[in-house]
Amino acid sequence: MARRMIVKLGDEVLRKKCSEVTDFDAKLATLLDDMKETMILADGVGLAAPQVGMLKRIAVISPDGEEFYEFVNPVITKSSGKQICREGCLSVPGVSGEVERPKKVEVKAYDRHGKPFVLKAEGFLANICCHEFDHLDGTLFIDKMLPGDR
Ligand code: NI
Repeated sequence: MARRMIVKLGDEVLRKKCSEVTDFDAKLATLLDDMKETMILADGVGLAAPQVGMLKRIAVISPDGEEFYEFVNPVITKSSGKQICREGCLSVPGVSGEVERPKKVEVKAYDRHGKPFVLKAEGFLANICCHEFDHLDGTLFIDKMLPGDR
C-alpha cells in the first residue's frame, strides 16, 4: 500500500464526472488499498477516487476506523428520511458545515472482484455514503451547505 496525495479544492479534477470501472483487475485492487491507507493516514472517514486524482467511480469508507467498506460503481437506489449532518472533507481543509442528507439509503455497488452487493445504511454511514458518492459526480459538500452556514 502507498499513501497518495490528496487533491485540494481548486483542482479541476474534483469537479469532473467520474467514469465507471470496467476492469476489476490488480490495478483496481492497488488503488483501493492505496485509498484505504491514504484515508487512514489522513484521519478521514471516507475518500473518493477523484480526491487522489483518479476519475473513477470508487470510494472507501470507514465510519469508526474499524469497519471498512469499498464501493466500485456505487448507486443509491433508495433513500428515505432526512438528517442534518455536519460535514468536512479532506479536500476542503479547515471548512465544516451543515448539509441535509437522507437518513437511510440503499446502495448497490460492486466489490473489488466485480461481485455486486447491496448495503443498507443509516445515520452516519448513510451520511458518508452520500458525501463520497457526490464526489463521483464532481459535487462537494460546500455546494450543498445550508444557508446561514456558508
Ligand atoms: Ni469529501
